[in-house]
Amino acid sequence: MNVDELKKQAAAAALRYVEPGMTLGLGTGSTARWAVLLLAEKIRSGQLRGVRAVPTSRQTEELARQQGIELVELGPEGVDLAIDGADEIDPDLTLIKGRGGALLREKIVEAAARRFIVIADSSKKVDLLGTRAPLPVEIARFGWRRTLALVEGLGATANLRENGGQPVVSDNGNYIIDASFGPIGDPAGLEASLKLLPGVFEVGIFRQMADLAIIAGPEGVEEVTR
Ligand code: A5P
Repeated sequence: MNVDELKKQAAAAALRYVEPGMTLGLGTGSTARWAVLLLAEKIRSGQLRGVRAVPTSRQTEELARQQGIELVELGPEGVDLAIDGADEIDPDLTLIKGRGGALLREKIVEAAARRFIVIADSSKKVDLLGTRAPLPVEIARFGWRRTLALVEGLGATANLRENGGQPVVSDNGNYIIDASFGPIGDPAGLEASLKLLPGVFEVGIFRQMADLAIIAGPEGVEEVTR
């Protein structure tokens, strides 16, 4: 079975938790894309009436709009349920996110969710964060070289994210750096240290946020609660 089919299976399983009338947070990336597509099908077929959604990126906003999903801004009440992918998932359901560059909006929406379900294929499972993917960090464009040096001062090798030789600019107008720390033994400490650096807006460590992980592998779909 190919990886995209596994991502679709995880997304389909997450949609069983969506109820009519809910306000959803819609994630970003190739796994969350399946959640958007399958959600739209259910809305069109009349199975999920009154569902509205907050997208976590312009990319997801565009897809959801094309698919006819009603979109709303994030209000003070937050969202009922957020569904999103991840780059790494550890046994405590601490995540690394942001390979798609949407970490800042993802963290705002997912922290505002009464329930957050992370969906993934089994390649995203790790024993220790930092072993499979670098850590994305969203930073100010102003003085980015200095901020990158400060991040490296915490023990990483960091690179400015580029596309075709140009810096990637996030939906929020910021730069993103990818910081490789090696295995991360203390995600809480690292997140706190990074967030104290001037110029750092958000860090792709998502702790104590995911309530449920739905992970699809060749042997089937597994559900892990925090
Ligand atoms: C987007 O910024 C990310 O946080 C994604 O959720 C994460 O990179 C997972 O993406 P895929 O589902 O494409 O692997």
